[in-house]
Amino acid sequence: MSNEIFGFTFDAQTIFIMIKTNKQIIIAIDGYSSSGKSTLAKEIAKILNYKYIDSGAMYRAVTLFAIRNKIINDKNQEVNEEKLQDSIDQIHINFKYNSEKKRQETYLNDENIEDEIREMNVSNNVSFISKVGFVRKKMVRFQQEMGSEKGIVMDGRDIGTVVFPNAELKIFMSAKAEVRAERRYLELKEMNVDVSYDEILENVKNRDHIDETRDESPLKKAHDSVELDNSNMNRQEQLDWIVGLVKSRIN
Ligand code: DC
Repeated sequence: MSNEIFGFTFDAQTIFIMIKTNKQIIIAIDGYSSSGKSTLAKEIAKILNYKYIDSGAMYRAVTLFAIRNKIINDKNQEVNEEKLQDSIDQIHINFKYNSEKKRQETYLNDENIEDEIREMNVSNNVSFISKVGFVRKKMVRFQQEMGSEKGIVMDGRDIGTVVFPNAELKIFMSAKAEVRAERRYLELKEMNVDVSYDEILENVKNRDHIDETRDESPLKKAHDSVELDNSNMNRQEQLDWIVGLVKSRIN
């Protein structure tokens, strides 16, 4: 017998195990930009009643702060690291759940910036801020504090390698750049953001390159992570896949 939960179908035994288990684990989901990490992370967190943390949103929030305060030149992406270092302690990021929109939203110094950090200007600049060592140090510390009680799903680039090297379950997600750009394009269209597919494809490829080649915590697959190429998978298939893995780690 199968049952529907949050719009997905699971057998009764799976639902029982997922909901009744007391074992709290850390699930680290890393991978390429727009590979569907956050969608999968949110869905599995909901089913397990775990906290979901979008670590990319933190780097985006710092980037927005840097753009607004002219710490990064958003035309040539030059970062004034001295100025950033001087103002880093003025940056306070937190997350709040918006029950009306049914989503978690990112706050920068008590201002809701959830929509603004998804805009192209932030996307085009975020890789240059997220490669700064002292920014990463501060974000990693914050992320580790959030996971100190386990029962958390966090997605990003270095979660399984740097933030939670002892996470019980590590996933590494990828998909073809064209597939990822198409998904992002549809997402932004839905949010009425005026952007072309080609612009997004270029941004996706650019970010892949910077994320993989930076000196500080480059994007790489943790040796003990499980890889998922979801180019040809729908959401239910991906969820079934991760549910199977979670069951093996909490039993
Ligand atoms: O997941 P995202 O596309 O929203 O992330 C935005 C940027 O932040 C991405 O280009 C790389 C960076 N990032 C990072 O360096 N480390 C993380 N843990 C998460 C994101």
